[in-house]
Amino acid sequence: MQYKDLSKKELIAILSDEYRKYYDYKNLGLSYDMTRGKPCSAQLELSNEMESQKLLKGYSSISNQEVRNYGVLDGIPEAKKLMSEMLGVGTDEIVVGGNSSLNLMYDLLVRFMLFGTGTEGCKPWCKDEKIKWICPVPGYDRHFLITEKLGFDLIAVPLQGDGPDMDMVEELVKDPAVKGLWMIPKYSNPSGEVYSDEKIRRLASMKTGAADFRILCDDAYTVHFLRKGPAKQLNMLEACKEAGNPERVFIFGSTSKITFPGSGISAVCGSEKNIKFLLSYLTIQTICYDKINQLRHARFLKDYNGILAHMKKHAEILYPKFEAVDRILKNELMDLGILSWTKPDGGYFISVNTLPGCASAVVEKAKECGVKFTPAGATYPYKKDPNDTNIRIAPTLPPIQELEAAIKIFCVCVKICSIEKLLEE
Ligand SMILES: Cc1ncc(COP(=O)(O)O)c(C=O)c1O
Repeated sequence: MQYKDLSKKELIAILSDEYRKYYDYKNLGLSYDMTRGKPCSAQLELSNEMESQKLLKGYSSISNQEVRNYGVLDGIPEAKKLMSEMLGVGTDEIVVGGNSSLNLMYDLLVRFMLFGTGTEGCKPWCKDEKIKWICPVPGYDRHFLITEKLGFDLIAVPLQGDGPDMDMVEELVKDPAVKGLWMIPKYSNPSGEVYSDEKIRRLASMKTGAADFRILCDDAYTVHFLRKGPAKQLNMLEACKEAGNPERVFIFGSTSKITFPGSGISAVCGSEKNIKFLLSYLTIQTICYDKINQLRHARFLKDYNGILAHMKKHAEILYPKFEAVDRILKNELMDLGILSWTKPDGGYFISVNTLPGCASAVVEKAKECGVKFTPAGATYPYKKDPNDTNIRIAPTLPPIQELEAAIKIFCVCVKICSIEKLLEE
């Protein structure tokens, strides 16, 4: 039974029933926060061993570097090995940084603005009259904010379940003012999609009008599978090298959602030439990153297999939460024709689409009932979802009973707002 096929009278009857449930929930005075994709405390507990002083025994790296002192700007060897295995690059193609990969992305773009990309014959981007940037949607609000604040014109390109609409991207990049693109290749935020190898090859090989075109490939969820995985995928740097465009991409990653967000280690990867370019500026910016934390991480996680074993423990905590959301959405909304949602194999989010023009109303209604969701529109450049349909659900943080209650309230709000929309029409 699709709502759109019901009579006005039938819709009004359902609406009054749903409003009754809504006020029952509202009277409970709940206060749930479903806004950001943070690990829950059980996940944080998994890495408590990192606090042990034993992990820092000797305070020196395998290259006998004293980690308590200045030095080794590109990261200690064991941390470079660990992060390069995770991100699928060589140890000469990586710099291990501090506690935030987002910070590395921000710095890189500011560097491009101030000093350029190091591409011969190209100016610093701030000398360009106009810079345009491609934003696959729905996407990560903080990415969009960085490029918005730098004054770039943001161009939304729809994701299609296996990466962005490449016909559209290939057309757009002919314009020399289009300088780059964001991408989250695996278990994307929020759509959960995994870019296909075909789309990765097209991104790596497409002809661009700008000689200094750059892709910021944020592989934030590369090992964050929910059941089986992680998904196999062609590495973006590998693809760029094969296509003869080795300098096109920078890949980013961190242990934020592996160990402790805000207290993890990050990494940026690129061709050897790009890494040299990066280090020539980093050396002015900082003497070195926190090597004590790098050593702690390398000893705790050990190697790629160690990371996967650790991520399996995360998955065991998270999978039931994702399943619970899917089950409730199915029970409450299946076949009503008012909501579609993703069932991701990894990552931190479920992305839902309401009827056009309903997403903001649903988020507002839920908020009035004590359940906060990420504001509608946040997954689009300039916070403007042209159809007002997309909402990002972050199931990881709340305890499962709280999550289930929040999603049930969400379903009531979806029903109410959809019916009100249909009646209006
Ligand atoms: C796609 C994506 N990139 C980066 C980050 C932040 O990473 P970091 O903690 O390494 O700065 C997040 C956090 O939610 C994210 O979703």
